[in-house]
Amino acid sequence: MTLPAALYDRDIDMAPLAGCQLALVGYGNHGRSHALNLRDSGVSGVMVALRAGSPSRAKAQADGFEVVDLDEAAARVDYLSILAADEAHGAIWTDHIKPNRKAGQGLIFCHGFSVEYGLIDAPDDCDLILAAAKGPGGAVRDSYERGGGLTGFWAVERNASGRAEEIAKAYLKALGCGRAGIFKTSFREEALADILGEQAVLVGGMCALARQGYETLVGAGISPLMAYIDTVHELKYIADLIHTRGIAGMYAAISDTAEFGAHGVEGRIAEAVRPVFDEVVTDVTSGDFARRWVADFEQDRASLLRARAKAGEHELEATGRYLRKALGLE
Ligand SMILES: NC(=O)c1ccc[n+]([C@@H]2O[C@H](COP(=O)([O-])OP(=O)(O)OC[C@H]3O[C@@H](n4cnc5c(N)ncnc54)[C@H](OP(=O)(O)O)[C@@H]3O)[C@@H](O)[C@H]2O)c1
Repeated sequence: MTLPAALYDRDIDMAPLAGCQLALVGYGNHGRSHALNLRDSGVSGVMVALRAGSPSRAKAQADGFEVVDLDEAAARVDYLSILAADEAHGAIWTDHIKPNRKAGQGLIFCHGFSVEYGLIDAPDDCDLILAAAKGPGGAVRDSYERGGGLTGFWAVERNASGRAEEIAKAYLKALGCGRAGIFKTSFREEALADILGEQAVLVGGMCALARQGYETLVGAGISPLMAYIDTVHELKYIADLIHTRGIAGMYAAISDTAEFGAHGVEGRIAEAVRPVFDEVVTDVTSGDFARRWVADFEQDRASLLRARAKAGEHELEATGRYLRKALGLE
């Protein structure tokens, strides 16, 4: 197995960004962190572009940024960094950027979703750059302020300007990623890895296992509180061990009883879920997932809100609240 070599701050020139006018579309978790890190890294004149009536306008202005509307940003700057919700990228592109864009303007993304799954039909003169600091937006700022950074991944889908690669690397360096390591990827790789990871493992997979474990134990006559502690609450301790030591390191740190039993069951669970994982890959790479999600977004997220309400009604939520209250966690 060959792992890719990292680039660090010393390998990357910031000059390509120096002459660029840059606007960040969105001022949520990533938008705010990008704006503050770029400015603190010496990138001047960063603007924030927001939709009409945006609740983030006052915050961006209080942080000292010039705030412009989406049409104006499209008409003025050399690069737009699209840090708005992925499902809105198609509408932002069609309604605001495409009809107003300055010739040769490039787009920077921090997730491959909208380019990979066809939400944006950018013309030939448009750089398409991925500059992804891998992690939640708040961590982009927190790690930077502590003198570190998140791992960065860059890709260029289209290099119309001839300098897209340099812009991508300089942008990630300004976010602080050059302190942790910057790697090359592709839009396809980043999009699929991110989405499969969250759907099948980190969010959907983990919640399904935890709920199934809870229901199985309660069905076997175990008290809800005990079932909750052993299938949901203790997830954090295992996740922390995996985060700091890896899976093998976690196994080495738990009891031999737990390890012996888990090795015996892990293979059967993997066998059972492999077909589902394969279906997720097909669903995502075909663009079907993106089409369903954008369609739901356009129907005021009706399906998402129904699923969210149903999840909140599960009995284990009441058990969890009871436990967290007893522990002083809420
Ligand atoms: N690389 C990674 O590991 C990673 C991790 C997490 C997220 N991301 C990516 O980061 C991007 C932003 O995520 P986030 O976590 O920062 O989201 P967030 O905190 O929810 O912020 C979303 C921003 O999008 C704006 N927005 C939503 N709909 C819009 C519309 N129709 N028109 C204009 N602006 C709109 C919101 O504007 P208002 O302020 O006006 O409401 C808000 O400022 C996404 O592409 C996401 O996939 C990447």
